[in-house]
Amino acid sequence: MLNSLCNWLDHRTGYRDLMKEALDEPIPGGARWRYVWGSTLVFTFFVQVVTGFVLWACYAPSTRTAWESVYFIQHEMTLGWFIRGVHHFCAQAMIVLLVFHLVQVVIDGAYKAPREVNFWLGLVLMQIVMGLGLTGYLLPWDQKGYYATAVATEIAGSVPVIGPQLQQVAQGGSEYGHHTLTRFFALHAGVLPTLLVAFLGLHIYVFRRHAIHVKDTKGKPDASFWPDQILKDGVACLAVLAAVMGLAIWKGAELTAPANPAEAYSAARPEWYYLFLFRFLKFEWVSQAGEATGLGEAFGAVVIPGLLMGVLVMMPLIARIKGGHTFNVIYMWVMILGAGALTGVALYEDWYQDDVDSREFRAAVEKAHVDGERTVELAQSPTGIPPEGAITLLRNDPLTQGPALFNTYCIECHQPAAREGEWTRKVGPEGSEETIIIPATAPELADPHDRKNVRFGSRDWIRSVLTDFSGHFQSLANMTVENGASEERAEAAAAIINDGSMADWSTTDGPKLSDPAHKEAFDALVEFLYAQSERDDALPQDDTQVLRGREIFESGELSADVSFEYGACVDCHTMHIRGEEEPLSDSGYPMLSGYGGEEWLRAFISDPDAHYAGNGEGNNAMPGFADQLSPQQLDLLVQWLTGDYYHSD
Ligand code: HEC
Ligand code: HEC
Repeated sequence: MLNSLCNWLDHRTGYRDLMKEALDEPIPGGARWRYVWGSTLVFTFFVQVVTGFVLWACYAPSTRTAWESVYFIQHEMTLGWFIRGVHHFCAQAMIVLLVFHLVQVVIDGAYKAPREVNFWLGLVLMQIVMGLGLTGYLLPWDQKGYYATAVATEIAGSVPVIGPQLQQVAQGGSEYGHHTLTRFFALHAGVLPTLLVAFLGLHIYVFRRHAIHVKDTKGKPDASFWPDQILKDGVACLAVLAAVMGLAIWKGAELTAPANPAEAYSAARPEWYYLFLFRFLKFEWVSQAGEATGLGEAFGAVVIPGLLMGVLVMMPLIARIKGGHTFNVIYMWVMILGAGALTGVALYEDWYQDDVDSREFRAAVEKAHVDGERTVELAQSPTGIPPEGAITLLRNDPLTQGPALFNTYCIECHQPAAREGEWTRKVGPEGSEETIIIPATAPELADPHDRKNVRFGSRDWIRSVLTDFSGHFQSLANMTVENGASEERAEAAAAIINDGSMADWSTTDGPKLSDPAHKEAFDALVEFLYAQSERDDALPQDDTQVLRGREIFESGELSADVSFEYGACVDCHTMHIRGEEEPLSDSGYPMLSGYGGEEWLRAFISDPDAHYAGNGEGNNAMPGFADQLSPQQLDLLVQWLTGDYYHSD
């Protein structure tokens, strides 16, 4: 039955001849492992086509949807992460296999007459595969791909004569952006794969015409492609597939934060197989030669690689000269070892060297990673990705923007203990190199590197303000004229810790709070003060512990026979509990109404003089930021400090 069906089909199509033609290829000297590279390349391309179509089915190429659709593939779609991982690593496997294939062809002399044309076809295929890698890198539209590819289009722009036009065409206009993405997608999913199929067809056709090149049969009998070589090829393909899947599961393809043209990314690097070129361009002499020849960047990025590639192209002709083949083999190894060494140097410098650039690189990579994870966390929040695109998620995220603002405006004074002394300032006359280390001049509020862990306003913070005021604000002692502070500020700072009334209060009455006998009372007072911030983990105002603390705040009585000597809190501080008509007290400053909460902070940071010391009549050493921070920035900063942002845990 099956047989007659096959006969019928063969009569219509002649498939048996075709199969015979395809599979009966004789292999002189028998099947060998070293012939598998070509087949593995065809196989990996096939994997790319299949996974590529799946990705394509979910991908939306526009600056507002590219990252978002890749996010969907990576985090929402069933097995999407796996398909993307396989596509990602298989692309890199193709580069490795291409090198193996080239090595085998050159060593075996398979590029020599009459196979020159096929060798050249192979080199064209190599360029196409590298082009696929380059164009694919941009498609997720994340920080990493965006900035790496910008470097590549700039290099295109440096090509002599046609450079600017070339860059315009690649970018889709004078600016790098949306049209770059759509063009790269057209290249990646349309033009380049079509070219690849066409050239691959020619490559295989010409290859079959001259049959496999065998250097030395070593007297072994011939075999045929089916089943001997096919078996080896199949095993090799499965091994490659296993390695790629393993990497996809173990490492996975990363998706960093959405591309943000407004935020430069100082870790822009191409994919690892372009790193050697990237490193080569960083040599001093390369840029000098570029300037000397008037070629600029094109000298190192286009002319030199072009010449080196030219020698590769000429190999079949060089081989005709005596000793030419030996030269070719040596040349190939020098190229491979050279590229390998440059790649190694580049990796070493980025990841292990201890200098400013390398540290900056690693910090930027870390940040892209953190931002990427945070964007995903926000995208998975109940509000999800807004219609304006995922890029706004981070822009409006207190946990991301707060630490950044803090780093810009606050950290020089409020240095985290872990990084104290990292700041320096130039002193002395213009042009002199003299610098001093600026010590912290204000209490540690938070560490932007440990951003979920804010110290300001916490229960521990309150405890330490009350029991050890001078110790808590000790860093104010560094706010001196020698350290660059104005006389006025230096005076205020000294007054706060040396003869301010809170310092005196804390010296007199602080020990009573630390006394284990009054632990319960102290806890209650802390809870009362903490409740004013209305933070997520604060107790409600009508909680018994809070009410007990309120009593102490008002009366100054810790127990039946112990009360504060220096005064009750209400004697000096204004306290208006939210929602109540009458203030608990309106004695003065610092105002403790809503202490540590968003409103309190907003008012304090905008104008500490008015808020903290009452019309500038008290001690305050901090400048106001009302003019420097926009209302939105102030909100982001304050929401970060009070923990008012989305978190999934
Ligand atoms: C020029 C140094 C300086 C800068 C810059 C600075 N501060 Fe301050 N800050 C101080 C000093 C000093 C204090 C201590 C209290 C005082 O003198 O008002 C303080 C106190 C604070 C407090 C109150 C802590 C407390 O309970 O006493 C907060 C909150 C605060 N700063 C936030 C910020 C923020 C946010 C920024 C950045 C926008 C910032 N500060 C920038 C010097 C500075
Ligand atoms: C004798 C007046 C006085 C009394 C009593 C007093 N304080 Fe203060 N407190 C101050 C002054 C003044 C400051 C500002 C620092 C300075 O200039 O000395 C301050 C600062 C503070 C701060 C820091 C606020 C900020 O903006 O950084 C807190 C918190 C605080 N007091 C809580 C209390 C509590 C709670 C009590 C009662 C247990 C209390 N204080 C009792 C005068 C007083």
